[in-house]
Amino acid sequence: MLRSHTCGALNISDLGNEVTLSGWVQKSRDLGGMTFVDLRDRYGITQLVFNMESNDVLCQEARKLGREFVIQVKGKVIERSSKNKKIPTGEIEIEVAALTILNAANTPPFTIEDDTDGGDDLRMKYRYLDLRRNPVRENMILRSKVAIETRKYLADQDFIEVETPVLIKSTPEGARDFVVPSRMNEGEFYALPQSPQTFKQLLMVSGFDKYFQIVKCFRDEDLRADRQPEFTQIDCEMSFVEQEDILNTFENLTRHLLKVVVNVDLEDFPRMTFDEAMRDYGNDKPDIRFDMKLKDINAQAKNKGFKVFDDAEQVLAINAKGCAGYTRKQLDKLTNWVKRPQIGAKGLIYVKCNEDGSYKSSVDKFFGQEDLAEWAKATEAEAGDLILVLSGTANEVRKQMSELRLEMGEQLGLRDPKVFAPLWVVDFPLLEWDEETNRYHAMHHPFTSPKPEDLDKLDTAPGEVKANAYDMVLNGSEIGGGSIRIHDRDLQKLMFKHLGFTDEEAQEQFGFLMNAFEYGAPPHGGLAFGLDRLCALMGGSESIRDFIAFPKNNSGRDVMIDAPAKIDATQLNELKLKLNL
Ligand code: AMO
Repeated sequence: MLRSHTCGALNISDLGNEVTLSGWVQKSRDLGGMTFVDLRDRYGITQLVFNMESNDVLCQEARKLGREFVIQVKGKVIERSSKNKKIPTGEIEIEVAALTILNAANTPPFTIEDDTDGGDDLRMKYRYLDLRRNPVRENMILRSKVAIETRKYLADQDFIEVETPVLIKSTPEGARDFVVPSRMNEGEFYALPQSPQTFKQLLMVSGFDKYFQIVKCFRDEDLRADRQPEFTQIDCEMSFVEQEDILNTFENLTRHLLKVVVNVDLEDFPRMTFDEAMRDYGNDKPDIRFDMKLKDINAQAKNKGFKVFDDAEQVLAINAKGCAGYTRKQLDKLTNWVKRPQIGAKGLIYVKCNEDGSYKSSVDKFFGQEDLAEWAKATEAEAGDLILVLSGTANEVRKQMSELRLEMGEQLGLRDPKVFAPLWVVDFPLLEWDEETNRYHAMHHPFTSPKPEDLDKLDTAPGEVKANAYDMVLNGSEIGGGSIRIHDRDLQKLMFKHLGFTDEEAQEQFGFLMNAFEYGAPPHGGLAFGLDRLCALMGGSESIRDFIAFPKNNSGRDVMIDAPAKIDATQLNELKLKLNL
């Protein structure tokens, strides 16, 4: 070993001991006849002291050390004269007797400190340096704990970890696939899995009963703070279970992870139907850390002569509690915020509920005090509150109001990342109409089982059929999703028919699964967590990038290794590929 201790290990009880430390030079200071160096490794920082009087040559050498040099020192643990109570090693320092430079270093492009001066791009290009910083490394340690605890917990419950292939077949459902050309099979391509869905179902047919895998998934979709083209799932499947069993099993796993990793106690998770979530929060992953539900005020606001509302399909309101004091400037800012193209509202209407019981609105010309009192009643607004109103087509206004609700929650400090509010959203629709392709898509995936009581509606009102599908939502983020699966060949065939597949197409794409269903498929179901999202939320962030060691940027590039990149002509020839750019 090139060290006897780590840089976080020594304290006052080690006084007088001879030790060897290795690490990186965080910074050095020359003070008269002394040179102080902060030596850093993963475990902490230890102060080194070089004394000119006792060893001039060594002190001169120490003065030449640059930031991030890798060094080894031998010396004695002594008591510091000015102690630093903030760090565990703050009462001691090492009086250095020997110094070896293990490796010199260029000056890093940004400071390796908790608050760095490095911008995003630079930190990504030198990600290995960014990972030296405490906050980023702590995120990785959190992630490692989550993965290790997940394995321990599920193994204790008799789950078997199975690896499934990464080179598989492209399927038309879901997001776009990443594809890989096959050299040995000219003109043919593998696809990288968007999830191991069909494989885990086949493992149930094989009788594995309880499966899990911490697994990379790949989706070629537009990126956002909570989406990466390659991400990790905690993927799980169980046989002979009903929805309730799955919800209980994975609610318990989540509770366990939050307890052991971040010491948070979660209560039982509330359940909300998809319809309730859409009605009350305007989206299927509600942030229930705060209330501020969406209220339908069609009855109170329409047919009073205000054309904007009269022409609108839907008028929705929220009650921003205690915000009646918002200034003109604040309201203008909010109006501009909803009018941004990302939100797309045409305007914002407000009603201030004054302390004296009167109302002041931006539509006083059309609505009297009595009308506004009705709005206040519908939104449960009291003196001091601010009612915000949007109108438009039902779908649009719901989305816009959902965003405005989150923004107001943010402005009012109601979205504390240290508060955890999980829930299950259940009873999702089975199918979703897609305007672009003019056909139904599976809302979750085509293997999800319709609710048996809705089966007869498949032909007559497919949009109304509900599925045995559920999402786990934490602080407004979908951290997991799953369903009870179809395990009957004929029902699976029927599903494909409703999704617009011909029998031949269904057989070609998914014949392997439907065939397997003829060899004794047990009833089964499961779910997959987004590990990156779960870790980000546990670490108090909504951006998953900080919880991935080597993430891609918003254009899907790894700027450190510079991928994706061109391949040379020989490789293209071998693959019999011709670029058509
Ligand atoms: P689903 O598509 O809902 O389900 O994915 C499961 C979870 O994975 C996370 N997730 C992502 N995380 C980061 N970047 C992405 N691009 C991304 N896409 C999804 C989300 C999501 O809840 N096979 C099914 C699961 C099942 O039915 O068992 C599936 O993949 O947190």
